[in-house]
Amino acid sequence: MENSEEPMTYFRHNGIIFCSPFHSAERLERLKDFNIDPHIPVLITYPKSGTTWMQQIMSLILCNDNDSKKMINLYTRAPWMESVRFNLEIRDCQILTTHLNYQMVPNCVKSKMFKIIYVTRNPKDVIVSSYHFHKYSRFLEAPKNFQDFLENFVEGNVFFGSWFEHIRDWHSHKDELNILFVAYEDMKNDLRSVVQKVASFLNKKLDEETLESILNQCTFKHMKENPKTNYKDVSDLFNSESGSFYRKGITGDWKNYFLVSQNEWFDSIYQEKMGDFPLKFDNM
Ligand code: A3P
Repeated sequence: MENSEEPMTYFRHNGIIFCSPFHSAERLERLKDFNIDPHIPVLITYPKSGTTWMQQIMSLILCNDNDSKKMINLYTRAPWMESVRFNLEIRDCQILTTHLNYQMVPNCVKSKMFKIIYVTRNPKDVIVSSYHFHKYSRFLEAPKNFQDFLENFVEGNVFFGSWFEHIRDWHSHKDELNILFVAYEDMKNDLRSVVQKVASFLNKKLDEETLESILNQCTFKHMKENPKTNYKDVSDLFNSESGSFYRKGITGDWKNYFLVSQNEWFDSIYQEKMGDFPLKFDNM
């Protein structure tokens, strides 16, 4: 499945772009047969939809804002199941995170036994965030320009493949799963309600003091400055002159990037592919 036309760090598996430092085709194949403890909640996102934010929310809820957990790096508390580094023995794992599509996750996860949270985000903001991430990450090919990236995104020629297929596919299986869809835009509008909803989905009760403390630790500023959530310890993965992991953390930034013609073009593609999709996105 290797695609020799891609740069060294890229390979395709089932037609989807992965990165060789973190993923391997052999490992992705084996993952389907992994047996995972159903008590561990699973967080599923398309990249740049608010994964890190939800990891922090879930992690703090699950440990009831416990100090010893908070001292562990977020990516160890909520490891990526598709990463070659992930092993089922990770002691500090509270949550399993994945960007994989429905077909590629371990078969055992496709049942009501697992609590799954899927974070959605307005695709235009995902595109802008992803465009910057592709420029900023050393392990991804920098986009030529925004137009080129936009076309690649629509074709699914980006990290983790097609946004359209990812969200449609997961959503189409919702009745077979115990899955909660949470919108990034709702997290921005009313984080308190989202944290309460997530806590209730995870069967956790939060007293007012703990809830306040969690809300404080989930602000953009706090997460950007917190060494356990800001990825500064893996700075070799990123090109700090080209951006920052915590970039803007806002909704509607797409309006600063999409030309009128690009917006019209994307809207027509969106209508064609997603016109009948039941979830709607704020600020489209
Ligand atoms: P921007 O690039 O638009 O700023 P992911 O974690 O899935 O990679 O998503 C990254 C996006 O979530 C980035 O968006 C990042 O800034 C935003 N983000 C991360 N933590 C956030 C927070 N606490 N509040 C708001 N946005 C946050």
